[in-house]
Amino acid sequence: MNLALTWGGFPAIASAFPMKEQIGSIETDALAHIAAATTERGLDDARVAVLGKKGSLTLASAGIKDVPKEDKAAVGQLLNAARAAISAALDAKQAALREIADRAALAGIDPTLPARALPLGALHPLTQIRDQAIGILRRMGFVLADGPEIEDEFHCFDALNTPADHPARNEKDTFYFDSGKLLRTHTSSVQIRSMEGQAPPIRIIAPGSAYRRDEIDATHLSVFNQLEGLAVGSDVSLPDLKGTLEYFFRELFGTTTEVRFRPHFFPFTEPSFEIDVKLQIKGQAPRWIEVAGCGMVDPAVFDAINTSRKDRAYDPQTTTGFAFGMGLDRLAMIRWGIKDIRLLIENDVRFLRQFA
Ligand code: DAH
Repeated sequence: MNLALTWGGFPAIASAFPMKEQIGSIETDALAHIAAATTERGLDDARVAVLGKKGSLTLASAGIKDVPKEDKAAVGQLLNAARAAISAALDAKQAALREIADRAALAGIDPTLPARALPLGALHPLTQIRDQAIGILRRMGFVLADGPEIEDEFHCFDALNTPADHPARNEKDTFYFDSGKLLRTHTSSVQIRSMEGQAPPIRIIAPGSAYRRDEIDATHLSVFNQLEGLAVGSDVSLPDLKGTLEYFFRELFGTTTEVRFRPHFFPFTEPSFEIDVKLQIKGQAPRWIEVAGCGMVDPAVFDAINTSRKDRAYDPQTTTGFAFGMGLDRLAMIRWGIKDIRLLIENDVRFLRQFA
């Protein structure tokens, strides 16, 4: 830019030239300060000194009002050019200082090292088997139901046709509270609560904890997990029970799994069966393993429900149903060849990690 040539000989020369020089020296000065800054703080001071409210370039810009009209545009351009150059220098220096700071922060760190692995959680084997069992049964139209773990004797025993002298009610086998309530010994109590609350047809499953005063050993805990099922309607038959549970266990253990029903006794079903599946556990010869109890709901249970409901919604003449119950801990132990039930509650990550 050669202002001397352009403005030579004009009266404006007197005011335009000092302004040009002033701007030039402000710019030179500012660029020197910017170059000299070694910290972001120092750089900011340099910025304020030139571009701040009372900065040198800001004050100089105010002087444009005294520049003759015909020179205003040229001086204005000079001011803008100086401002742009200074701003660019500030930005560049800022980036350079940041980079230096970043490098210092990273000194001694190897950014090419692999990142630390994020520990991922996994579902507990009991949760896995429970969810899978629920999934299969829901596909067959069963809906989830639940009931209290602190039960009364009616729902846990009496309504389930389990008389007062039945061994299951023995104080030595069950946890009783002073109030007479008890920790439910099985999830079958949920059958009763469901039928009390709903007229047939009914198709429910109830997974949950059950409690017994068992000696704790490799196959017994005082709290374990059951899954109960109940289907009641006007035409529910033994073949329905058989088909449902055969299908269930084949879905769970493999479609070629053999399933057998062995006559048994439960107070709340008649006839009653225990279900065995023939399984090959790793490293063992195939053998029959008991996995569930089941049967056709005993008419005495329907009678108890009707008394409790004060109606005849479960008329034993026209109502039939089947029920089943299984231990989820046991299913998990079979599925994964777990030899000690206590592993399921110890929360040892060396054990749990295997199910991730
Ligand atoms: N409640 C039984 C138990 O804890 C399991 C059971 C057997 C449940 C037969 C049932 C059933 O619903 O029909 O051993």
